[in-house]
Amino acid sequence: MKKLMTLALLSATALTAPAKAEDSVEVLHWWTSGGEAAAVSVLKDALQAKGVTWNDMPVAGGSGEAAMTVVRSRVTAGNPPTSVQMLGYDILEWADQGALSNLDATAKAEGWDDVVPQALQFFAKSDGHWVSAPVNVHSTNWVWTSGKIMEELGVTEAPADFAGLLDIAKRAQDAGYIGIAHGGQPWQEATVFDSVAIATGGLDWYKKVFVELDQDAINSPTMIEALNNLGEYRALVDDNFSGRDWNLATAMVINDQAAFQIMGDWAKGEFVNAGEVAGEDFQCWRVPGTEGVVTFNADQFAMFNVGDDRKNAQAEMASSVMSPEFQVAFNIVKGSAPARIDVSDAEFDACGKKGMADLKAANAGGTLVGSQAQGHANRPAVKTAFSDAITAFFNGELTAEEAAEEMADTVAIAQQ
Ligand code: BGC
Repeated sequence: MKKLMTLALLSATALTAPAKAEDSVEVLHWWTSGGEAAAVSVLKDALQAKGVTWNDMPVAGGSGEAAMTVVRSRVTAGNPPTSVQMLGYDILEWADQGALSNLDATAKAEGWDDVVPQALQFFAKSDGHWVSAPVNVHSTNWVWTSGKIMEELGVTEAPADFAGLLDIAKRAQDAGYIGIAHGGQPWQEATVFDSVAIATGGLDWYKKVFVELDQDAINSPTMIEALNNLGEYRALVDDNFSGRDWNLATAMVINDQAAFQIMGDWAKGEFVNAGEVAGEDFQCWRVPGTEGVVTFNADQFAMFNVGDDRKNAQAEMASSVMSPEFQVAFNIVKGSAPARIDVSDAEFDACGKKGMADLKAANAGGTLVGSQAQGHANRPAVKTAFSDAITAFFNGELTAEEAAEEMADTVAIAQQ
């Protein structure tokens, strides 16, 4: 009898393990804008419903450079967070250092291999083992417009090419508005340059430069032309762009002060958070000259090696992130597409539906390519080499010719 009771007690403990009060996750991320915070709440609530406490560790700064610095110091101190929002090659670098957990058991039980697009699995696995859970698919080649200003200018559809887009900004300026809402930070300039590069040199050239790191393509007349196109864009931003956060630039479009912003679809999260309706209050176009191409980046939660006492909560988090219901609820708020191929677009707005359809078509047609600016084209050191030169050009510290040469030199060093 006594033995039976002990067994009953033991199995009750085992069954309740996922909901133990002390289960908690410490999550490091850079989702600090209004729309991003709303998206984080979706995840936090999902975990709290399972009895897992969320310890928030936000480190502001798009594309995660500041966050990665904090991760480095935490890992060096032997105290990694449970989970870290991470992009592309950053995940692979941490995995190479043996810092990430093995999620194979959860992935296998839930069939992740069959539902996560291959382009994302490339970054979510190391040596064939799952080390992180993908949350979404964002892409950078978008234009977000002010519906009011477009109406006033009589613009009813996206222009045919990049020059046509700049022409809209000029006309907006003539009508008394700011042409382009721009946030002057290196990662934002690099993000805009993803699109400018494709609009100038095409997808094959983009791949040669940012994926293959072909020296002749990097320091080339096409690169100089692309930088000069960025210079034309630069001439249409307002005087106060320097240092401006991306979401403050988005707010300039939401408030109908500026005609448009070129930014990843996390910008849509800001419009939604402000109660704006896609296709009415704002439009989402692919950057003219890049239609058909999708320059993607995917946020993932890389799971760090933590003590056994934290592993249960970590697995709960990975499982929550990958659930179809969560992927829908979260990505509607975040502005991104789900990281699973088996979820419906029914509940997404017009821009969300377009994003999901574009992604599917690009994946099938071979025009899905990793965003250079967002760490999906190459290793972090290479990304920084490009973005430093792009920003130096943007701020008038280098000519286009000098910037092209600088890129070739610093990218070569970054590869060593
Ligand atoms: C991330 C997005 C985030 C954006 C701005 C990007 O690097 O992928 O999730 O919203 O930065 O913070």
